[in-house]
Amino acid sequence: GHIFREAVRISFNELDGLNAVVVIYKNGEIVAFRRGSPLVAGAGVSGNFISSDIPALISETQNIVFIDEDEGVAIDKEKILKVNAKTSKVALAKPQKVTMDEAEVDKAGFPHFLLKEIYEQPEVIARVANYGKDEIDKAVGLIKKAWGTYFTACGTASYAGLAATYMFSEIAKRHVNFAVGSEFPYFEDFLVPRSLLIAASQSGETMDTLEAVRAAKRHRSKVLAMVNVPGSSLTRLADKTLYLKAGPERAVLSTKSYIAKLSLFLLFAFGLAGNYQKGVRLLKNSSRKMSSMFKDGLGKDIKRLAKKLENQKHIYVIGRGVNYATALEGALKIKEASYVHAEGVAGGELKHGPIALIEKGTPCIAIVANDRAKESVLSNAMELKSRGGYIVGISPKKESVFDFWIKVPDAGAASPIVSVVPMQLLGYDLPLLKGYNPDK
Ligand code: BG6
Repeated sequence: GHIFREAVRISFNELDGLNAVVVIYKNGEIVAFRRGSPLVAGAGVSGNFISSDIPALISETQNIVFIDEDEGVAIDKEKILKVNAKTSKVALAKPQKVTMDEAEVDKAGFPHFLLKEIYEQPEVIARVANYGKDEIDKAVGLIKKAWGTYFTACGTASYAGLAATYMFSEIAKRHVNFAVGSEFPYFEDFLVPRSLLIAASQSGETMDTLEAVRAAKRHRSKVLAMVNVPGSSLTRLADKTLYLKAGPERAVLSTKSYIAKLSLFLLFAFGLAGNYQKGVRLLKNSSRKMSSMFKDGLGKDIKRLAKKLENQKHIYVIGRGVNYATALEGALKIKEASYVHAEGVAGGELKHGPIALIEKGTPCIAIVANDRAKESVLSNAMELKSRGGYIVGISPKKESVFDFWIKVPDAGAASPIVSVVPMQLLGYDLPLLKGYNPDK
């Protein structure tokens, strides 16, 4: 009842830090509040539910109650009340229907979520290609109007942002600024109300990304979010949200939402250049090309490669231009679940230090796309080889410098989309060989 609710609310307000708190009374009544941590409620037929995330509820109900910052819910069998943590105001919650297929949240016959999510990527690209011009135009309009556009994100999402700075320059001839979420607030002095911050996040809950958005809001700048999880904190802070439409991403390694972000960024860049349809065609093509990669036995090639790399302690990944971002993302895929030191290096930077670490047999992965960086990155691969490096080439063509060749299709400006896939698969196979769970 009322006293229990108030007791939890007052206690919650005493807490420091970022919390989601759930308290159950002996009569079964539940009161929960959130500040900085995710929390959602679900209105079901057999009862009402509370969770940090929608997929956990979806087998019970699709009717979701989104809970805002400094807000809570009081739940019993019959109803869900919303409670304002500050004012104690109470109102009947209005659930929203979330269309998330139950089949989408299980492994669909794959041994792990990670593998399932990697194989879903062609579909994700096609979904983004069909986004519709109106929505893309809205984002493009915000970028056109802005006095300065900034990208921010963390981890994998940040590498999509870094790739986007190259895409915007090459395709749209437009300068954008980029900083990872945790660094962005140190740039906030540049911000004015006409600045635009584009924040990308799979979960929409990454604290450093949210802090960057709060920094932008302090300056009344506009915020455009690219988010996968519906109703997440980031969507509630942003002025406008474009969903990634990648479906639930359950493995800790981010894969299909990275592909969705790259695809959306490509559409923005082509849209800015007045070439939206060209962007759509490129994506549809890349989707087909990625499907054939899987059909042509990429999985087997990577298993062979993983065997060769299994006992290595250090792996280097090089790229240039937009695929410098791919190199960083590839290295992250290798280190995060395999616990192997992997480092992404801009090809041209090798000579400024990292080359000293290459020994006989050190695995070096080179991302070679059919673009203007090709010759330079191949000559960097040569430098590595002359130090004894074992060169793995990810490339549409077999080059003489490669000791191991992973064939990827020539996807033009979408090369980062297809080139990252072999390293995602390594991120799956290496932990398996080492006896770790690739999903964790
Ligand atoms: C990290 C994950 O904690 O968060 C990374 O391990 C992920 O894989 C990063 O890229 C950012 O997550 P999000 O949800 O903001 O895209």
